[in-house]
Amino acid sequence: MSVVVVGNPKPLSRTRAAAELVATKLTGSAPEHVIDVVDLGAALLGWGDPKVAEAKEIVKAADLLVVASPTYKATYTGLLKLFLDQFGAGELGQIPTVPLMLGGSPAHSLAPELTLRPVLVEIGASCPVPSLYLIDSEYETAPELDRWLEIARRVLAR
Ligand SMILES: Cc1cc2nc3c(=O)[nH]c(=O)nc-3n(C[C@H](O)[C@H](O)[C@H](O)COP(=O)(O)O)c2cc1C
Repeated sequence: MSVVVVGNPKPLSRTRAAAELVATKLTGSAPEHVIDVVDLGAALLGWGDPKVAEAKEIVKAADLLVVASPTYKATYTGLLKLFLDQFGAGELGQIPTVPLMLGGSPAHSLAPELTLRPVLVEIGASCPVPSLYLIDSEYETAPELDRWLEIARRVLAR
């Protein structure tokens, strides 16, 4: 079961579409669940909310995770961090995970590898493939997506 997590304050964003595209191209079918973290709203500001608990259970049941964020100020969003902070250290139990970020320019292309990946690893994600960064205006057609998919399919062979 593949699951997409999107931490964009804008719902139904390009970041979400890109994450769904990546999951679909990787597995050959659409992700079973898409968690648009913004839908959890103020529940993320406390601990133990049932909606957040349900989202966490979906994430933990995945056998492939795509965790996506737009680039805000050279890093992933605070919204995504609120959700990731709900997980304990190691809680994901080594689920194969793809960190994905969209940005407006290539200036922050290392941001997913240097900022998002360490947080995911801390909560127990296994990230065996280089993190993916796509320019927002061309995420569907970027040649680096095809090159990345070739590597990712090999490494994450399912
Ligand atoms: C508050 C804010 C900060 C941003 N900071 C950056 C940045 O540091 N680097 C960058 O490449 N793009 C930056 N952007 C552009 C967004 O990353 C880009 O528009 C986003 O990936 C588009 O995805 P979306 O359509 O899914 O929102 C910023 C956008 C906003 C709103």
